[in-house]
Amino acid sequence: RILIIDFGSQVTQLIARRVRESGVYSEIVPFNKAGDVFKEFAPKAVILSGGPASVTAEDTPRVPQAVFEAGIPLLGICYGEQAMCAQLGGKVEGHDHQEFGRATIEIVDECALFDGLFKLGDIEPVWMSHGDRVVALPPGFKAVAVSSGAPFAAIANDEKKFYGVQFHPEVMHTPRGAEILKNFTHKIAGCVGDWTMAAFKETEIRKVREQVGSGRVICGLSGGVDSSVVAVLLHEAIGDQLQCVFVDTGVMRAGEAEQVVTLFRDHYNIPLVHADASDLFLGKLEGVSDPEQKRKIIGATFIDVFEEEAKKIGGADFLAQGTLYPDVIESVSFTGGPSVTIKSHHNVGGLPERMNMKLVEPLRELFKDEVRALGRELGLPEEFVGRHPFPGPGLAIRIPGEITREKVAILQKADAVYLDEIRKAGLYDEIWQAFAVLLPVRTVGVMGDGRTYDYVCALRAVTSTDGMTADYFPFSHDFLGRVSTRIINEVRGINRVVYDVTSKPPGTIEWE
Ligand code: XMP
Repeated sequence: RILIIDFGSQVTQLIARRVRESGVYSEIVPFNKAGDVFKEFAPKAVILSGGPASVTAEDTPRVPQAVFEAGIPLLGICYGEQAMCAQLGGKVEGHDHQEFGRATIEIVDECALFDGLFKLGDIEPVWMSHGDRVVALPPGFKAVAVSSGAPFAAIANDEKKFYGVQFHPEVMHTPRGAEILKNFTHKIAGCVGDWTMAAFKETEIRKVREQVGSGRVICGLSGGVDSSVVAVLLHEAIGDQLQCVFVDTGVMRAGEAEQVVTLFRDHYNIPLVHADASDLFLGKLEGVSDPEQKRKIIGATFIDVFEEEAKKIGGADFLAQGTLYPDVIESVSFTGGPSVTIKSHHNVGGLPERMNMKLVEPLRELFKDEVRALGRELGLPEEFVGRHPFPGPGLAIRIPGEITREKVAILQKADAVYLDEIRKAGLYDEIWQAFAVLLPVRTVGVMGDGRTYDYVCALRAVTSTDGMTADYFPFSHDFLGRVSTRIINEVRGINRVVYDVTSKPPGTIEWE
């Protein structure tokens, strides 16, 4: 296994993902905890991430001394390279020739890091993002690549197996970056690359059995990928000691509740309570227009209903949750001040504390795409595994203004037509998220010989990798025309369809 020490780069998570993609398990630790974790974790090698600080300043982060003395391979990326050099007796300076974005390096010497990839004199595209640069190497190091802004774009000490790169091998814009990292983990550190989803599944099942013993576990199902994978994994691990609860908020997509009940209760034979609380939710949402208020009401009501169902079932010792690795990684923050809350996404925060239960979180170590791979390993249908994300507050935040049962029904129909056309066109998997929004605006139309005065439906589809930034999906006009015609013909209450072409930022993915 590989330990990644995080110095606060925006792309540290990508290092972990690239390493895992090559079949080697890796974890990220913030620099200020690295000393302790390093001892316990006993990694085969360490990667030092980039970061926004400057090693030329006094009290900026450093690499724990023990890492240099452990006799294991080390790879420093950007700030990581600079910190390594500064601490081992080299010299780093600020420089007015900064390099940001695409750059090229020239290979000037051989080293194990580039073994089998580049030869002397090769010019390779890489992605750079640095102000400071190394100007003198520590003893035992040699330069193996140069760029216009960095005389030491890549450095090596093959004897100690210490390497440094000024560029970022973890990002897509460094085309052969993944291979460089694989050289480090496989050839230099000697990892064999046997970390697969099949292996993870077996280990996790064993861990759950150990943790739970003969106890009982309760699990909330939402119809989304994460909770579905948790439920099936736990069912494989502990059988009927698992009890699932599906809370129907009344603001789910069309047919969602039936789908969940059919799959989990009928197909998997998992004990499942279907709590239809739509009247309660819609009642509480009556007259509420403010988006944050909607979120609060839905979050709190969900907890109430879930707790009540858990009491009825009785005797559960554990609560299962689909917590993922990005929720767990402690981020390194240099900004200090409070960040602005754009939307409060934590729908059911506080549930475990209130219910006083121990947590079972079998996905804590996984990234989203790894959860999907695990779902496939567990035989979950593609329809569930490849599903677009769906927010906890559901359609309530896709109906700006007041929510009524009638509006929910209209939106469910329009959304179903839209997704059906996307699937038929074979575009579902190219899109991160697609959905319809029902606007609180009526416009005039003409259908047959009559005048209509109905709602406007907005369509949204975005591409993204993590939901943090997004771009609108470039549907053909043909496709948009087809969806528009179908929605207006098939859904009573809508007489106009528009397409949202806003990226994030400045927009957000959801309308509320
Ligand atoms: P935004 O709209 O913030 O959405 O660009 C980014 C991602 O988060 C989802 N989202 C939510 N998920 N509860 C959730 O569980 C929420 O309150 C919530 N608001 C937005 C959104 O669907 C997108 O995937």
